[in-house]
Amino acid sequence: MSESGAEQEFEAAVEGWVTSALDVADFGDLVRALPGVDPVVALATLDRLAQSDNASADAARRLGAIARSTVPTARSTVERPVPHPLEFYWRNDDASLAHFCELLSTYGLGSTIAYLGMPNVFQLARASLPGRHHVMIDRSIPRMNVLATGEQAIRLDVLRETPPPLGADAVVTDPPWYPEHLRSFLWAAARLLKCGAMLYASLPPDGTRPGVVHERAELLEWARHIGFELMDYEVSALRYVSSPFELASHRAAAIGGIPLDWRCGDLGVLRLVEKRDAPRPVVPEDEGRWLTFTIDEIPVWVRDRDPDDGPLTGQLLASLLDGDVLATVSRRDPRRARIDVWTSLNRVYTTTHPAAVQAVCRALAEREDPVMAVAAELERALSPEEENAVVETTARLERIVAEERSIHRLDDT
Ligand SMILES: C[S@@+](CC[C@H](N)C(=O)[O-])C[C@H]1O[C@@H](n2cnc3c(N)ncnc32)[C@H](O)[C@@H]1O
Repeated sequence: MSESGAEQEFEAAVEGWVTSALDVADFGDLVRALPGVDPVVALATLDRLAQSDNASADAARRLGAIARSTVPTARSTVERPVPHPLEFYWRNDDASLAHFCELLSTYGLGSTIAYLGMPNVFQLARASLPGRHHVMIDRSIPRMNVLATGEQAIRLDVLRETPPPLGADAVVTDPPWYPEHLRSFLWAAARLLKCGAMLYASLPPDGTRPGVVHERAELLEWARHIGFELMDYEVSALRYVSSPFELASHRAAAIGGIPLDWRCGDLGVLRLVEKRDAPRPVVPEDEGRWLTFTIDEIPVWVRDRDPDDGPLTGQLLASLLDGDVLATVSRRDPRRARIDVWTSLNRVYTTTHPAAVQAVCRALAEREDPVMAVAAELERALSPEEENAVVETTARLERIVAEERSIHRLDDT
C-alpha cells in the first residue's frame, strides 16, 4: 500500500474509533479508550469532526475544548536514570509489570529468563521470583549500572551487536515500535532462546501510526520465517506510563487532561519451534549515530557527524524551533533529521560543530574547563571569539540542565 493510502486508511480508522467513543466525560477518557492513538492525533481528529456537519460535531468540539483548556499533565520523574527520547523508554504500569511476572512465574526454579529492553520487568521479577537466573539485556550503560551487574547483565545494542546463545527458557521484550527495532529484537530473542522456549513481546497496537497493522502482520510473518510460532495475541493487554519527554511534548503542544497511562500495547506470545540460522535484519542508519552525556543526571545526546566549515560561532548551540521543545515524540516528524543536540525533556538544537558541543558536554559532566576541552578536541588553539562562543554555549547548557532538573523535580527527592 502507498504511503498516502496508508495515511488515508489510518485517518478513517481513527475517525471511526473517536466517533464511537465520543460519549465520554472528558478528553482523557476518550484518549484512554482508543487503541494507542497519540493524543495529538486524537485532538486533530476531534478538530476535523468539529468542523463537519455530522451529529458528532458538538461532542467533538466539547472534548477538544476540554483538551485545550486543561492544564497539561505533570509529575515528578521517578525513573533513574532519567530517560532520554532516543531510548524510546516507556515504563509499563504496575498492572502490566505484574502481568509479565505472573506469566514468568510458570518457569520453575533454575530456569533462565532474559529481559531484552525490559528493565522494569527485570527489576520486579528478580525481586518476586527467586531461584531463577534473571538476565537483563540493554543498551543503556547508566540503566545497567543502576539495575544489574555480573552475570545478570549483558550490555548490548540489539540493532548492531549479537547476543550470546543463552539457552533461555523465556524472553520478555519491549522493542521500540519501529520495523527495524522490532525485527532486530525478535532476531536477538531467537538467539537467546532454546528451542521450544517462549517469547513474550510488546507489540504496537492498531492506533500507533499509519500502516502499523500491515507492518505488524509482516513482522509476525517474518517471525514465522525465523522459527517462531504465534501462540497467543492479546490486544491492549499492556499499559505504559508517560515518559517525562512525552509530558514535555504535550506541554509544548498545550494539550491537557491526558492520563499518564493513556498508551496501551498489545502482547504477542510466540514459541521458538525451530532454531534457524536467519541472517541479522538490515538496519538503516535512520536516526544516525549519537554520543550520550549525563550532566547532573540530565541526559544530553549529541549527534556524531562531521562539522560544518568555518570557526566556532554563536551557532554552536542554535535553536531549531520556537521554545526549543519539540511538541511531538513521533519519529515521522521531518524536523528530527536536523536535530544535533537533544535533551531529556525533548529540547532540540542544531550545531555547526558537534564535536565541540560533545567536548563541552563532557567537560560539564566531568567538571573540567570547557574551553580547554574544546581546544583539546579540535587539536588547536581557539580565537577569542571562539572562546566566547564556547563560554556562552556552556552557560546556555548549564541553564538548560538546571531548568530540566527543576521540571523533573530532581532536587525535591
Ligand atoms: C521501551 S523501553 C521498555 C521499558 C519496559 N516497558 C519496562 O517497563 O521495563 C526500552 C528499553 O530498551 C532499551 N533499548 C532501546 N534500544 C535498544 C537497543 N538498540 N539495544 C538494546 N536496548 C535498547 C532502552 O535502553 C530501554 O531500557
